[in-house]
Amino acid sequence: MFDLHKAAGAEQEFINSTWDKLDAKLSVTAVRSRGKIPYTSVNGVHTDHSGKLIDSWTNGFWPGQMWLMYYGTGKEDYRTTAELTEEMLDAALFNHDVLHHDVGFMWLLSSGANYKITGNKQSRNRALFAADVLAARFNMAGKFIRAWNGEDKTGYSIIDCMMNIPLLYWAARECKDERYRFLAMAHADTTMENHIRPDGSVKHIVVYDPMTGEYLENLAGQGYRVDSSWSRGQAWALYGFILSYIHTGKQEYLDTAKRVAHYFIACICDDYLPKSDFRSPEEPVIYDSTAGAIAACGLLEIARNVSEYEGQMYFRAAINILKALEAHFCNYSLEEDSILQMGASRYRELGKPGMHAPLIFGDYYFTEAIYKLKGYDILFE
Ligand code: GLY
Repeated sequence: MFDLHKAAGAEQEFINSTWDKLDAKLSVTAVRSRGKIPYTSVNGVHTDHSGKLIDSWTNGFWPGQMWLMYYGTGKEDYRTTAELTEEMLDAALFNHDVLHHDVGFMWLLSSGANYKITGNKQSRNRALFAADVLAARFNMAGKFIRAWNGEDKTGYSIIDCMMNIPLLYWAARECKDERYRFLAMAHADTTMENHIRPDGSVKHIVVYDPMTGEYLENLAGQGYRVDSSWSRGQAWALYGFILSYIHTGKQEYLDTAKRVAHYFIACICDDYLPKSDFRSPEEPVIYDSTAGAIAACGLLEIARNVSEYEGQMYFRAAINILKALEAHFCNYSLEEDSILQMGASRYRELGKPGMHAPLIFGDYYFTEAIYKLKGYDILFE
């Protein structure tokens, strides 16, 4: 197997200096933003998704980032902020109607991370509740986990959900109950069949008949158009399938993660800075730094799951992406809250199509990639 720790040895200067800069900034924001659930920054100040936006899919990334830093540094400020945010999220966890397929993102990285690091039983309980909510969204006819809420969306499946199903793999192990794994694998199999194109590009939304499970159509979703390739969706698939491989050992998941990775790497070969859609007009140039950070995490996991002579390509691609993001898009000013700039949000969230913004999940996955390279081995997903 490829030895990720050994390979990282040759990049120590970059890895250590980046980790130290993250720690310097996050030790300040962990305290300054305590009591908020950040999503983006406006004029350098974290916005807050607590209160009315408590059910936002992004609300686990801030506590997750705090747990990454706590595990790596042992600093209590990180833990205090993570624990407080996890408690704030109870307002969503115990409000069934606002919950959705993104409970995996939300509770794996908050309660799941807490439990894995500290053994906190209440956190385990929260994450298992979330797993039950996710399992209950499984459509037996179509063998997929339903995305989003609303009567018009009962047949929707989205590629992003590959990142939620690790909650089910975890619940299967934790409860010694394989039903959770069967559901997760059924969803992964359906997604592999219907979202991944033969060339390794990915469809964001697939719509099924919710009664018969018949494939009806594919929608553009957050991509430029229906046959395009939304880079963050590519990254969710890349990381999601390697995670399914790690949790199940099913060879097709590794092969799929590699196929998506090869396409992703080919699309960024000029400067390692992903555009928001790999099949969109050259102008205006819309980057999505978050796609790079998510893909880097997935590439590092592919690297450590392939042979000695194969891993180097995935490792180098991850390092090249992280160095490019670091050089062009990272903001380490202690006066401003967000780190990774130039994410591409959902259009409706920031009001203007294609607007660039720092996004909390960009900060999370950039930090997670450096955490992996530092050799910290608890996998939150
Ligand atoms: N999971 C939603 C997004 O990537 O924007």
